[in-house]
Amino acid sequence: SPSVHFAASAAAGARVIVVPYPLQGHITPLMQLSKLMASQGLSVSFVTSRYCISKITSSKQSFSAHQIFPGIDLVGIDDGYGGSEDHDLMINPEKFLESLELLHLSFVKLLDRTVGEEGIRIACIISDSFLPWTQDVANQWSIPRICFWPNSLSVFSCSMSIPSLAVSSPALNPFNARVYETSNGEFVTSIPGIPEIRACMLPFHTLGGERSEAWMRHQIETQIQQINEYKAIIFNASPCLEPEVHACMKELLPSDKVFYTLGPLVPSSILSSESDDQGTGSSMFDEDEACVEWLDTQSPHSVLYISLGSLITFYDEAELQEFTSGLLDSKQPFLWVFRPSALLPTPRMECSFGKIIEWAPQLRVLAHNAVGGFLTHCGWNSTLESLLMGVPVLGWPQMLDQTTNCWFLTEKLKVGLRLESMQSKKVDHKSLENSIRRLMVGEEAKLFRARANEVRDMAKEACTQSSLSSVLESLVSTIVSLNH
Ligand code: UDX
Repeated sequence: SPSVHFAASAAAGARVIVVPYPLQGHITPLMQLSKLMASQGLSVSFVTSRYCISKITSSKQSFSAHQIFPGIDLVGIDDGYGGSEDHDLMINPEKFLESLELLHLSFVKLLDRTVGEEGIRIACIISDSFLPWTQDVANQWSIPRICFWPNSLSVFSCSMSIPSLAVSSPALNPFNARVYETSNGEFVTSIPGIPEIRACMLPFHTLGGERSEAWMRHQIETQIQQINEYKAIIFNASPCLEPEVHACMKELLPSDKVFYTLGPLVPSSILSSESDDQGTGSSMFDEDEACVEWLDTQSPHSVLYISLGSLITFYDEAELQEFTSGLLDSKQPFLWVFRPSALLPTPRMECSFGKIIEWAPQLRVLAHNAVGGFLTHCGWNSTLESLLMGVPVLGWPQMLDQTTNCWFLTEKLKVGLRLESMQSKKVDHKSLENSIRRLMVGEEAKLFRARANEVRDMAKEACTQSSLSSVLESLVSTIVSLNH
């Protein structure tokens, strides 16, 4: 069960503290990284909110925590969050940020006690780039911090280019929502590794107006400023998928900065039948296993899988209605993840060809032969998972890196298309119906599938090639050397 102390029976290896941003899309890859490090003999303490830890462990009915997380010590600390929806980032960002502040204070107290009073030695802290205060705490105790970048190399390059954007395109303020309102905005050509990208595809668009624009700008600027303080950076990305940006990393980073590309950080069970990994293991929600049986009854490549990740939801009931009509008019079988929310009623529809569920075992769904397309918000994890499974996408990005990930999927890799009405955020039922047909049936659909299969082979290569294990070995030996 979660504890507020580190487990006494630490492995002989060096101790690493891993701190994810307390959201599903950040917990999943960092848990996978933790498993990799634990498999190499490091002692890993995975520290996040008590609420997240209880959700992770309670959504696994059939396994005990240590079976799912061998060698990983789960440490839940207080962030004042009891689980009510009013702390949800999308419903009440102010409260979410307040709970992050409390998480910060609890983390300070945890280190005061464990490192200060009990004298526990910590080789390094590996924490999310969106938690700049972990750097301050690490500095206070002279513990090296390795930053975990949860997004793509392309998004990193865009973020590092903010200062030069201001010089090369003085009129362009990428944090201003207006940039994103026109789909044919200005082309930006000054981003290393990305010869050309429309300004409206940059990863800085927030949904919440001026305050969240200012918050986002502050986040990115802090991440850039802190780079000199990081001991190293780990990316959930692969040089095989983003070779051009990877080739520019030396130009983007200070010369003494070491970086590791360890992506795609997905459970090894999906890549090798010999692995004893139990699945994602870090899902915070109960996965609807019955949906896989339903998929078994469907024809090959016929089902559109729909999921907008763990945060994004529909703008209002009108948008949901419009989406539902387009989906039904497409007549395409679908499996739709609709997370229950206080904001919107779950759609009830009389339809023989579709199924709505609350949370899917996404990797198993994407791996299923019946699934022929993925309508996705283009979160980075979903992006990597769709590529690994060779499933063509209909991208419907809403904010931040999702927009750039959609560009990567549809314009760079050409494994699908973008839902055209997304710029105004409002979906149009006719455009949705047409886009679903283009993705799922006919000649264009065949081309998307062939291309997705090609990219899948490349992505699997990235996960299995020996260079990945040498990157991991190099990271582990750096961490061990920090322990001395
Ligand atoms: C967010 C951002 O969108 C993402 O770009 C960022 O890098 C991390 O945080 P989120 O919006 O939740 O994450 O999307 P995504 O990155 O796709 O992560 C969602 C995860 O939940 C995926 O690993 C996906 O497999 C999983 N999932 C989603 C399920 O297991 N079941 C579901 O029904 C839906």
